Amino acid sequence: MAKFIVFEGIDGSGKSTQIRALAERLRAEGRRVYVTAEPTESVSGGMLRDALSGVTKRSACELASLFLLDRINHNVNPVTGIKKLLDADFDVICDRYYYSTLAYQGSETDFEWVRKMNVDCPEIRRPDVCIFLDIDPAVSMSRINRSDRGFTEIYEKAEKLREVREKYFYTFERLSDNIKVIDAARDVKTIAEDVFRAVKEA
Ligand code: ADP
Ligand code: TYD
Repeated sequence: MAKFIVFEGIDGSGKSTQIRALAERLRAEGRRVYVTAEPTESVSGGMLRDALSGVTKRSACELASLFLLDRINHNVNPVTGIKKLLDADFDVICDRYYYSTLAYQGSETDFEWVRKMNVDCPEIRRPDVCIFLDIDPAVSMSRINRSDRGFTEIYEKAEKLREVREKYFYTFERLSDNIKVIDAARDVKTIAEDVFRAVKEA
C-alpha cells in the first residue's frame, strides 16, 4: 500500500536533505515516489510565498486560512492531488503539512481554531507517519546562514523558531497522529537510517 509521509521541523532542520535521501532509497526498492511540498505551486501557494517573504503583510488568521485553502487543494487536486497520487500507488512525501500551520500560525492566533479547521476538515487526509526532525534553533539558524540562499523568510529568527519548536511539541500532545521525533543534530546518514526505519514501521 502506498504511504503518505510528512516531514516537519523548524526552518533549516534538514527536511529537504532527508526527503531527497528517503525518496532515493524508496525508488531503489522499486517504489514509485512523488515528492511534494507546502506551500504548493498553486495560486494560493503564490499568495503564501508573497506573505512569507514579507512582500505582502498578512495577519495570522489570513495566513492560517490561506494555508488551509492551499492544503485542501493539495489533497483534492484532480491531477497532482495527494489522494489522486496515493490511489495511483505513489508513495507521497510532503515537505510540511498541517503540523506547520498549528505550530507557526497556532502560536500567533487561537490554536484551537487552527487545529479544528485542519484536523476536522473532511478533505484533509491524515498522514501514515509524520517525521519530526528535531533540532536546536541556534543550530538550524547557523545552517540557514551558512547556506547560500541569499534571502530569509519572516519566521527565520532564532527567537521565533524556539517558540515554534515548543508549539510543535504542544501540537503533538494534542493529536493522535503517528509522529516520530528524530534527533536531527547528527550527521545526514545516521538521521536517514532512523527516518527509513520509521517509514518502514508506518
Ligand atoms: P530544511 O528543508 O528543513 O530547511 P535543508 O535540508 O535545506 O533544511 O537543510 C538546511 C541546510 O543545512 C542546508 O545547507 C543543508 O545542506 C544543511 N544540512 C542538512 N542536514 C544537515 C546535517 N545533518 N548536518 C549538517 N548540515 C545539514
Ligand atoms: P519552507 O519553504 O518549507 O521553509 P524551510 O525549508 O526553511 O523549512 O516553508 C516556508 C515557510 O512557511 C516556513 O518558514 C514555515 C512556513 N509555514 C507556515 O508558517 N505554516 C504552514 O502551514 C506551512 C506549510 C509553512
